Amino acid sequence: MNGQKKITDGIFWIGGSDRRLERFENIFPIPEGVSYNSYFIDDEKTAVFDTADITVADQYIENLKHALGGRKLDYLVVLHMEPDHCSCIDKVVALFPDVTVVGGKQTFVFMEQFFPQAKDFNRLEVKEGDTLSTGSHTFSFVAAPMVHWPEVLFAYDTASKALLSADAFGTFGALDGGIFADEYDFERDFLDSARRYYANIVGKYGPQVQAVLKKAQGLDIQMILPLHGPVWRQDLNVLLDKYQKWSTYESETDGVIVVYGSLYGHTASAAEAVASSLRDKGVKGVKVYDVSGTDVSYLIGEVWRCRKIVLMCPTYNNGIYTPMENFLSDMAALSVQNRVFALAQNGTWAPVSGKLMSEKLSQLKNVTVLENILTIKSALSAKDTEALNSFTDAIVNA
Ligand code: FEO
Repeated sequence: MNGQKKITDGIFWIGGSDRRLERFENIFPIPEGVSYNSYFIDDEKTAVFDTADITVADQYIENLKHALGGRKLDYLVVLHMEPDHCSCIDKVVALFPDVTVVGGKQTFVFMEQFFPQAKDFNRLEVKEGDTLSTGSHTFSFVAAPMVHWPEVLFAYDTASKALLSADAFGTFGALDGGIFADEYDFERDFLDSARRYYANIVGKYGPQVQAVLKKAQGLDIQMILPLHGPVWRQDLNVLLDKYQKWSTYESETDGVIVVYGSLYGHTASAAEAVASSLRDKGVKGVKVYDVSGTDVSYLIGEVWRCRKIVLMCPTYNNGIYTPMENFLSDMAALSVQNRVFALAQNGTWAPVSGKLMSEKLSQLKNVTVLENILTIKSALSAKDTEALNSFTDAIVNA
């Protein structure tokens, strides 16, 4: 059954939702699914902005044919050449061999790498400031390099005042039949997924997101049409405020996450004691996570949300407990900044994980690592009460 959603006059969503893919990019678990958004322009000329992932190809092609209603496709605009959006390009061009494929210089370099036959496509190369008119809609192109690939373009339609924003402002999560963010309780249904998506996929590129947000300030944007998740037509500032915070590495809350690794439960028990002490001292919003049982993408999402992070783990092979080391490496890769870290180390004979974690965290910009490392010798006990107390005092006061 074909599926399309009217966005506004002459613009329709013709993408697809995927609930079968276990891991986005074969890394990030997506139990909430994901949508691949493609936008059809029904005007004097017809156009589509981006295609969809191969996993929804059949649905996508059915949607496109239905939207065209027997007309030919004039333009295929490629704002982003990552395969979750471009993997149906060859199918679309095979169906409409006369279509003009529109993209930037680097778009076509990547396109020929993925699809060697692209060298023979009819092409229109555009750059920032160029426009494409389909009749009543005129799209201006805005370069958005490294948000989060180098070739990325945004397109702004002066008729509808819609910004087609590629991956920016997207989120994990299938669409459940609705297309507009205001059809959902976004905070309940999408915010955690949107943050996890941003932090893990775009998080490293905060300065580049800031650069494109500054360009966007010069546009009268009434709608945001991302490549994943719902379209925004109301309360755009809700999302823009989040992006301002996320891209400047500013936390959303003063809350604390306690992330522990534990072989036999002793460091887990200590983590519960730390969380309990923090709660007793009036800290709201304490969350405890087992680093071995929580996919690191969720932990990264929580790092973007919270200002204070407690890391507690055993010493392992004279190093850092490996799942914790993976989490630390991910934080470094994603350029985590502006956070406060408190560290606890466990070791039955030679605890060094605290010192080693501190060394790894020193690679991050603008972070504070509290000096007071809590040392656990095998298990926390009554004799450690004072040490625990001063450890959580330092976190509260940081
Ligand atoms: Fe949704 Fe960067 O692809």
